[in-house]
Amino acid sequence: MTHAPSPGPGAGDRPTLTNRQGHPVHDNQNQRTVGPRGPATLENYQFLEKISHFDRERIPERVVHARGATAFGYFESYGAWGEEPIERYTRARLFSGRGKRTEIALRFSTVIGGRDSAETARDPRGFAVKFYTEDGNWDLVGNNLAVFFIRDAIKFPDVIHALKPDPVTFRQEPNRIFDFMSQTPESMHMLVNLFSPRGIPADYRHMQGFGVNTYKWVNERGETHLVKYTWMPKAGVRSMTEADAAAIQAEELGHATRDLREAIDRGDFPEWELLVQMMSDDEHPELDFDPLDDTKTWPEQDFPPRPVGRIVLDRNVRDNFAENEQIAFGTGVLVDGLDFSDDKMLVGRTFSYSDTQRHRVGPNYLQLPVNQARAARVRTNQRDGQMTYYVDEGGENPHVNYEPSITGGLYEDGGPGHDEQGPLLSGRLTRARIPRTNDYLQAGQRYCLMEPWERDDLVHNFVSQLGRCDRPIQRRMVWHLLLVDDDLGLRVGDGLGIGPEDVSDLEPLPNQRLTDEDRARLARLG
Ligand code: HEM
Repeated sequence: MTHAPSPGPGAGDRPTLTNRQGHPVHDNQNQRTVGPRGPATLENYQFLEKISHFDRERIPERVVHARGATAFGYFESYGAWGEEPIERYTRARLFSGRGKRTEIALRFSTVIGGRDSAETARDPRGFAVKFYTEDGNWDLVGNNLAVFFIRDAIKFPDVIHALKPDPVTFRQEPNRIFDFMSQTPESMHMLVNLFSPRGIPADYRHMQGFGVNTYKWVNERGETHLVKYTWMPKAGVRSMTEADAAAIQAEELGHATRDLREAIDRGDFPEWELLVQMMSDDEHPELDFDPLDDTKTWPEQDFPPRPVGRIVLDRNVRDNFAENEQIAFGTGVLVDGLDFSDDKMLVGRTFSYSDTQRHRVGPNYLQLPVNQARAARVRTNQRDGQMTYYVDEGGENPHVNYEPSITGGLYEDGGPGHDEQGPLLSGRLTRARIPRTNDYLQAGQRYCLMEPWERDDLVHNFVSQLGRCDRPIQRRMVWHLLLVDDDLGLRVGDGLGIGPEDVSDLEPLPNQRLTDEDRARLARLG
């Protein structure tokens, strides 16, 4: 039953509230009852629709990166490196031509806390960019720290379980975190970053972003290069100590989301430059690390980061749920000219993202406006499923939702495909670590590059967290840190009352591979 809308008392010419069926709401203060004191009636559609929609307001939060903030803007390509066109290396059209613009969405996040948790946490920050290109969407899903804890996707649930709250006490426990890390030597490089001031960025506008994993660029001739991506903030990089973070956290939990929103609102549009490091697409036996290992960075003197464009964020979300909670990124979302590498994390990530999004948002998550390929035409024969929002524009004959057909419908492109340009693969199916693990060298180099106050902060943070761990975990961590860098290991050990002589009896972990330099260091300990 509907009635003509009538403005309520004092409403003036404000729009009339309706329910989802478009019926005007005459009374939003009182449910329908038999007499003023009830009982209520069940045929009260307006009330039931309101409450039952409310009951379903939450969708599962992201299993990681639950707290985040999204903003929109554009990517502008530089088109060339000096005289050299970028097209020489990638045929991805968003990079072609100086000044070419592509709409983007960018979601920043913390990793471990829930949807309403503090943004002052010591935690990596997500830096996920969706490019709405003319060839469909490209997602570059990165973090603010250049490396990661692990190099094989099979360990991701373990590292996240260790970092998340204890399943019994529901508290984040240093003992659980360092229990796992102390058995995972490849995590040392990430830990040296995470427990330094970089582990608490001042806010989202003053942090870098990194693709972390290794990808490929493919040019018109099918030639491939390995690439790594870096985002550099025009505003500079700023970090916080634990004391800074504690002071902010006493006041508010969402300072970084607020900072981003306010900056965009006042027209101070945040900007980052995108840089690309590149190397030939092979195993690079001359390097002391594997280019497909995401616990390593590529030395800048050998592989100089070259700027390819910039992004500007100039619009805030209109609705947090629609555009921040439901946005969905994935490492499998690539366009022609950009490709995967065999990085063992990347392949696992590529399965995981769309898998979780079909569960978290629903099987038709790609129909939502924020996830649609805005600048490219989408026409599929996919049909139905929960919350189907529209029917893809098919061919001329709407009865044909299959392919091939001689009566209409969609038809495959039929143009030259690029799949045949893929690499020739051969090898025994196996479960094995990569040969060049080299877990400590870059972690030590990173420590040496830090300013004195950053080192002090790192040592302080390690000591305070490890101080809450069991003795065997402390000893193993000191053993690792001595292998990372003498000074770091000695200082952290000092803070915990553990000298090199207290750990000299520890053997390398099972299946751990040490370099000659590692062995020499161990011998010095003994
Ligand atoms: C979010 C899995 C490693 C960056 C997520 C989500 C999953 C996931 C399931 C939630 C996605 C959603 O609900 O929409 C994995 C797996 C990994 C891995 C299995 C390792 C094998 C990494 C690494 C990085 C990263 C190395 C950084 C380069 C992100 C970011 C998000 C995210 C930024 C949040 C995206 C957003 O804002 O919606 N990851 N992840 N992840 N992951 Fe990973």
